Amino acid sequence: MSTTEMANVVASAPNADGYKEFSLGGFHFRRDEFFAHITWPTGKHVISVDAFLRAMQRDVAWDFFYGTVNFDGVLGTVNHYGTVDLFAGRYNDAYRKAELDHVENFDSPQIRETFKAILDDWTIEGFDPFASPAETGKPFGVKVGSNVPAITRHRVTANRMVGVTGDEKVRTDATHPINRMFNDVTQDAPELHPEPGFEDEVAAFNLFAYLSRSDVTWNPSVVSQCKASLYCPTTEEYILPIIHGNDRVEWFVQLSDEIIWDVQDRDTGAPRAKVVMKAGDVAAMPGDIRHQGYSPKRSMLLVWENASAELPELIRTGRASVYPVDF
Ligand SMILES: [Fe+2]
Repeated sequence: MSTTEMANVVASAPNADGYKEFSLGGFHFRRDEFFAHITWPTGKHVISVDAFLRAMQRDVAWDFFYGTVNFDGVLGTVNHYGTVDLFAGRYNDAYRKAELDHVENFDSPQIRETFKAILDDWTIEGFDPFASPAETGKPFGVKVGSNVPAITRHRVTANRMVGVTGDEKVRTDATHPINRMFNDVTQDAPELHPEPGFEDEVAAFNLFAYLSRSDVTWNPSVVSQCKASLYCPTTEEYILPIIHGNDRVEWFVQLSDEIIWDVQDRDTGAPRAKVVMKAGDVAAMPGDIRHQGYSPKRSMLLVWENASAELPELIRTGRASVYPVDF
């Protein structure tokens, strides 16, 4: 059996607009020409299919990421690293007070395969949910074709570092042309002079040149890893398609241009801060917030993650702070 069959994806025959409908526990997902319609035992919700597919693409590609992936103020997932919560209204004060909220926990393969099937069926020819809206077609209309290469891109996850022998490759004209917004980024490379015998152990690459060749937006890739320390740079344009709820501190280093961040309380959505990051700015996003970024021009952002598996529990039980440093 394929993984999909083992995970028992529950899908209907195509509806009047040509799209399959999907059930996962008490949740039901349906799309029409313009919208994703989500229902659960106590409520229903509608999201522009454009925003829905961009969010779904990240949740699938990042395998539910760290902490919470809010598609918007109502729908989202919480990663428990082995199981995943799918929720509606759970982190929305109004839904909680009206008792319309709902949450169900699934084994990761079950929700992963269902989400992959939704993304695959609902993404039509010409639409790339990872691309900037300026660089892709539209997701609207009745079902026409698909875009499997766009939604199954290789996810960069270096074991040591990009460019090290046997690890993720440095990008070239042949694999990754320079993006239209980064034509001014110099493409020189560091000189390497390793001692004899260490040619496979010493590596260096031009990170700016590497990022100038990214064909996706809002997609942190692991370019280096040292124990739990992960450098996850990304290029951004338009709006982060999810609202990320942290379960640990994240450091942001703005490498170029500017991003405006809306920062809210992770659990209620109450506004906490507006952060404008210009090139060279460094910020630490606390472990108890959710955040969404706006990038008016394609920019480069370095996200520095601590992948320690024990962090969420340490923070939850008060043994680790939600701040990286107290002043
Ligand atoms: Fe985050």
